[in-house]
Amino acid sequence: MTARLIDGTALAKHWRDQVAQDTLALRARGLTPGLAVVLVGDNPASQVYVRNKVKACDQAGLHSVLAHLPADLSEAALLDKVAQLNQDPTIHGILVQLPLPAHINAHKVIEAIDPAKDVDGFHVASAGALMTGLPGFWPCTPHGCMKMLEHIGYPLSGKHAVVIGRSNIVGKPMALMLLAQNATVTICHSRTTHLKAMCLQADVIVAAVGQRNTVSADMVKPGAVVIDVGMNRDEAGKLCGDVDFAGVGQVAGYITPVPGGVGPMTIAMLLVNTLESAKRRLSV
Ligand code: GUN
Repeated sequence: MTARLIDGTALAKHWRDQVAQDTLALRARGLTPGLAVVLVGDNPASQVYVRNKVKACDQAGLHSVLAHLPADLSEAALLDKVAQLNQDPTIHGILVQLPLPAHINAHKVIEAIDPAKDVDGFHVASAGALMTGLPGFWPCTPHGCMKMLEHIGYPLSGKHAVVIGRSNIVGKPMALMLLAQNATVTICHSRTTHLKAMCLQADVIVAAVGQRNTVSADMVKPGAVVIDVGMNRDEAGKLCGDVDFAGVGQVAGYITPVPGGVGPMTIAMLLVNTLESAKRRLSV
């Protein structure tokens, strides 16, 4: 492999250590940052994600609460739970794990979260703040990708970034963050024609479609930075991203692995956002 690896596990540890250190200082002033994680139902993948988030909080010295609620919970009961957490002074961040069961309107639940506690950055107030350059919480996954680019000292200004994927959680906020750093941004998605031609023009590719082998070596300009947000399984059941890692690693300048890339950074940014929320409480 010729590309340099961006080690998400090591970089996430740096940020988690930083949060732990700041948390210690905050606790000495009588404030313990607190995160509430709400899980509805028994989606196996969500259970793993949620467990990892709670564990990361504990390791960094944050207070965490896991509310594991039954799959048949009513929307009204979930809204009540969110309202209760909004009022709880020990909680600075509220995360409702998605996806929610089909009978619950996820938009309604997210909009019920106090934007001051929206550490996932999914509330329309957070999305609007990101769009307009106001302070607010950034969604954790694209936030983690930006930290990776910052870590390698990549100068985004004037560069062409291609984001593949247009979700509210990753693709759209990712494009806005790159734009805020003066990159020229193209958003591609499942209906894009000529994806290969688009990617070949990119200095930076962020792949976030949830489809393995979406980006192959022949689609990458030599030396480009390739960030892989995908979380898929290959036919052997092994975890893999959206990028053909072995092939693209021969062409790219930098590449993120899966696992050990963006995933750990997502959790680290959740801790960063929760700490930031607690700090804001102290300063009001
Ligand atoms: N489901 C998949 N990723 C996420 C995330 O970052 N936050 C929440 N709340 N749910 C998710």
